[in-house]
Amino acid sequence: MRTIVAGNWKMHKDRIEAADLIAAVIAGADAWSPSVDVVVAPPFPFLAEAVERARGTRLVVAAQNCHEAAHGAYTGEVSVAMLSSIGVGACIVGHSERRQYFGETDAAVGRKIAALLSANIMPIYCCGEVLDEREQGRHFEVVARQMDEAFRELDVSAIARTVIAYEPVWAIGTGRTATPDQAQEIHAFIRGQLVGRIGDAGREVPLLYGGSCKPDNAGGLFGRSDINGGLIGGAALDATQFTALITIAGEVMN
Ligand code: 13P
Repeated sequence: MRTIVAGNWKMHKDRIEAADLIAAVIAGADAWSPSVDVVVAPPFPFLAEAVERARGTRLVVAAQNCHEAAHGAYTGEVSVAMLSSIGVGACIVGHSERRQYFGETDAAVGRKIAALLSANIMPIYCCGEVLDEREQGRHFEVVARQMDEAFRELDVSAIARTVIAYEPVWAIGTGRTATPDQAQEIHAFIRGQLVGRIGDAGREVPLLYGGSCKPDNAGGLFGRSDINGGLIGGAALDATQFTALITIAGEVMN
């Protein structure tokens, strides 16, 4: 099983800050465990430069979104072919902020996953419930429905090549984290859904936890059997914290 530590920079940093952060992350690369894949997702304007800086290193550069169509009259959008042409290796899709503020649906996310895979870009598919749903005990049902809709049109090999990030919306940017037990419980559920859908291949799909994951809580989360790394927001904006998370992943997961 691969372990992945991925940083989602969201809408943060300017060009100089982005270059500095990439350089600082790469500076620690010699110490990365061989079993940990490291990914950063800067904003679109900085992707090409990030890819250049990451060339020859183990750092994979990801986008935070893409459009499903190959090209066309979609002002403001970015296609997978564009991402591929500059060497982007992964792409986050279905992040809760895109669902909440930009109306992204699971059906559209499913089409984005298919487009990404056709361009050999690794999709990082985000799912997770909001606070009300968690408090009503509906989190399993919500995540099952999200996966069902996103994966409906995808075949077994496409789902097997997709990384899943469980991000409880109530834990994103709030400082409130799912406990290791809560996270493991729903990750095990997601694993079960995957195995039900695609068989044993579902056991090899990396499941990342996201939501206020920091160096001081990552050890408990990453150590659990169905938590194969993290999708990190705030702590990915600081090279020291992000590097600490990579180190913890390497230590805990071996
Ligand atoms: P935080 O780590 O800032 O809570 O963000 C998580 C997230 O949304 C990563 O995609």
